[in-house]
Amino acid sequence: MAPAYNEAIAPFLAGTIGFLKRPRVRVLVVGGGTGVFSRDLLPAVRRCLQRWGQNVQFSVVETDIESVVREAPASSHRVQANFHQLPFRDGSFDLIVGQSMIHQGEMQKSIPEIGRVMATGGCFFHTQDSTPVGSAHVGEWMRRTQNSPVKRLGDQENAREWMEHNARIHSETSQAAVELAKRHGLSSIAFIAKGDAVVSKNHRIGQMQGINLDTANHVFYYHGGISGRTDPSVPADKKKLDYAGTVIILAKTSTTALAHHLKQLPD
Ligand SMILES: C[S@@+](CC[C@H](N)C(=O)[O-])C[C@H]1O[C@@H](n2cnc3c(N)ncnc32)[C@H](O)[C@@H]1O
Repeated sequence: MAPAYNEAIAPFLAGTIGFLKRPRVRVLVVGGGTGVFSRDLLPAVRRCLQRWGQNVQFSVVETDIESVVREAPASSHRVQANFHQLPFRDGSFDLIVGQSMIHQGEMQKSIPEIGRVMATGGCFFHTQDSTPVGSAHVGEWMRRTQNSPVKRLGDQENAREWMEHNARIHSETSQAAVELAKRHGLSSIAFIAKGDAVVSKNHRIGQMQGINLDTANHVFYYHGGISGRTDPSVPADKKKLDYAGTVIILAKTSTTALAHHLKQLPD
């Protein structure tokens, strides 16, 4: 994940962790791929917690159906596991993290399974990164994504079409996940964590902003300059996020209090 993406998401994940009020947080990563959570997002989360003077210990289990979890940092416990049928006891984890996985597999199985291993008072924090469609960004993204269909297609119009298609899928699956969660007794929050100006100019983010998540208990859009605020070394004219994230939190706790807490995060 791009550093800007982690910087946009980290305060919200750190805020969620702070809200759990536990000195030791048992984290399960589902569909963890190569371990980007442990490698990139967790260090950014730790920096936030440190800045806010919060001391939290983590035990992290990284899982994925493929053996790619071999590449996760060795500080995490790594288990090959299908998120349709997780090899853990009920209520084993305070925080379950998924990045870009909810649209994979069968949500009718994964959402209740995630709910089952979630401890009372716990949360599932899912993020989907969103790459802006502005042509400069498409070019940059194409360079980054070595094996993606975007690169294979190799032209910006097709790339835009492909990314817009993806955005639609992500919006639809977000909505479906929230609806399913409700049926399984989980409350929810949905929001978009993003940076500055890019958002208002950007068609695709605008589209994602328009997602109708009426079934979520709380829906809000974050319009801050999180990366600018958290990184004073970023010059003013660069305080734009190339990446934004659609965040869904499913919880066995009060999402009213959590939503309030996330809107009041310190810098
Ligand atoms: C788009 S990748 C995201 C990987 C990683 N979270 C990231 O952000 O880079 C989705 C991941 O979900 C995993 N996956 C797909 N179906 C799965 C299942 N049924 N159980 C566990 N993992 C699964 C894939 O192997 C893949 O690593």
